[in-house]
Amino acid sequence: MALETRELGYSDLKVTVVGLGAWQFSNAWGVTDYEVAKSIIAKAAEVGINFIDTAEAYGSGLSEEFIGRALKELGLREHFVIATKIPGQFLAYGDVIKAARNSLRRLGIDSIDLMQVHWPPCWHNIPTCEYMRALEKLVQLGLIKYIGVSNFPPELLESARSCLTREDVVSNQVRYNLIERDAEKEIIPYAEQEGLSVIAWSPLAQGALTGKYTPQNLPPFKDARADNPIFKPETFKEIYEDLITKVVKIAGKYGKTPAQVALRWLIQSSDTVVVIPGAKNPQQVESNAGAGESWSLSTDDWLELEEASRKITFSRVIY
Ligand SMILES: NC(=O)c1ccc[n+]([C@@H]2O[C@H](COP(=O)([O-])OP(=O)(O)OC[C@H]3O[C@@H](n4cnc5c(N)ncnc54)[C@H](OP(=O)(O)O)[C@@H]3O)[C@@H](O)[C@H]2O)c1
Repeated sequence: MALETRELGYSDLKVTVVGLGAWQFSNAWGVTDYEVAKSIIAKAAEVGINFIDTAEAYGSGLSEEFIGRALKELGLREHFVIATKIPGQFLAYGDVIKAARNSLRRLGIDSIDLMQVHWPPCWHNIPTCEYMRALEKLVQLGLIKYIGVSNFPPELLESARSCLTREDVVSNQVRYNLIERDAEKEIIPYAEQEGLSVIAWSPLAQGALTGKYTPQNLPPFKDARADNPIFKPETFKEIYEDLITKVVKIAGKYGKTPAQVALRWLIQSSDTVVVIPGAKNPQQVESNAGAGESWSLSTDDWLELEEASRKITFSRVIY
């Protein structure tokens, strides 16, 4: 069954509502064997996913290299909309240009469909207009097609957009899942008002919403989840009992997996949202794609999860 698509902001990029997150191709998540990465990318294309999200920061270029090699070997450049990111510490004007050229080389392509600022330049005091004008220059040079940001609050995004004279920002990529819904407070309403897309990262709360982890079976704390407060045993127990059991129950009712229900809930929450779950094997990517087929949760079931998730509170303070 074909996957639903949505346009990214004002662009002509039509992406499937479920994309493929490629942070997994790194030591942080452990997919460091190229053949495994290639099989995930091949499966994504086979099941109809047309959107891949990567970044320089994922494995210090490894994720981009794997994608570039796989696109070439599988002949899939034209199939995918490719999104990558420039880290927040590479945002001086010349560094933006240099980082983009490096990403192009690793990806082995002529033009990047969506170039995103991975996070604002917290530590290097780079003026907002300096890096936004560099991104606009990249569009003029034909090295990127569209500009996106990631982890930007609306005030900064508004100011970043005001630096552009010919282009506009098409998307803001932010953390958004059934457990962590802070994006609903300001970021999603701003995107809806301005016609921007929201690309939801960690849409499965790093696997918490797949139903495979329980208070007795927590994920290994050696990977990207090491500092994720959701998996702190006492926090996870509460989330599991109050929310995940309901996701599992509703999944059973629809003959879907809990991951599919968790992703569908986000897709249904706003027309601006597309999700980019990461996958460590072809089975996961195939299962996640099922969330993007044409089906929906009933209003009652959507609301049951909305209410259960709204009650969840936990602190991110560790020390
Ligand atoms: N812009 C940013 O700042 C930012 C930050 C973080 C992530 N991202 C992007 O968002 C993407 C996704 O976020 P994420 O990787 O943090 O978390 P996620 O997509 O919520 O969770 C991914 C993990 O969940 C498990 N999983 C995925 N599909 C599954 C399935 N169908 N059944 C069972 N388990 C499944 C896998 O880990 P296990 O099998 O080990 O459980 C996988 O590594 C990343 O790849 C990256 O592209 C962006």
